Amino acid sequence: MTHLVYIEASPMQAASTSIAVATAWLEAYRQAHPDDTVDTINVWDIDLPPFDADMIAAKFAVLRAQNATAPQQALWARAVAVSQRFNAADCYLFSLPMWNFGIPYRLKHFIDVVTLPGQNWRWSREAGYQALLPGKRATLVYSSAGAYPLRPDEDESDFQKPYMRRWLRFLDIAVTAEISASPTLVPPEALAATKAGAMERARALAAN
Ligand SMILES: Cc1cc2nc3c(=O)[nH]c(=O)nc-3n(C[C@H](O)[C@H](O)[C@H](O)COP(=O)(O)O)c2cc1C
Repeated sequence: MTHLVYIEASPMQAASTSIAVATAWLEAYRQAHPDDTVDTINVWDIDLPPFDADMIAAKFAVLRAQNATAPQQALWARAVAVSQRFNAADCYLFSLPMWNFGIPYRLKHFIDVVTLPGQNWRWSREAGYQALLPGKRATLVYSSAGAYPLRPDEDESDFQKPYMRRWLRFLDIAVTAEISASPTLVPPEALAATKAGAMERARALAAN
């Protein structure tokens, strides 16, 4: 049995293009894998602890065993709990609107909270950076008002796709499929056709 974690980065719910396409993928996936478990995390709904000076102090106090106070331990435990929910997956699905050439700030906040030393990566002088939970895979669903193509002829101002690929590579999570629903800033008929095409591709990918 496989555990899938689905991460929604759009706050737009029923009006979201990326969520519509990811939902088509998910429905086809559920049909093909009825016994698998799915945990949906919308980054706008989940309670994320601030990753601020207090969290960074807590991190160093706990990880370097420098007499962390009880509040510091509790704060670090909040981040670890979110990280462990993320790390529990065998595979991932992300729905990803482009915001100002990158990703929505709330997703970046989620990434900063879940990417924790000791939970999913470590560093040593001898080995450098190492992922602790290799062998996972991810499907990425992108949406943007403008037409930002997938590889190989990617637009140089697109920081959405390269950022997601780089972060996932850091954790040794293989990107096995990418689906782009763009451009969305087009007349309604063209948007409907773009969405339908992306949903069809999503269903076909998930069924395999
Ligand atoms: C704050 C904000 C910033 C955006 N920045 C960009 C951008 O840089 N490039 C672009 O093509 N679209 C941009 N858009 C448009 C969204 O990417 C587009 O509407 C997309 O379809 C949203 O996906 P969703 O419907 O899944 O939320 C932005 C939208 C918002 C709300």
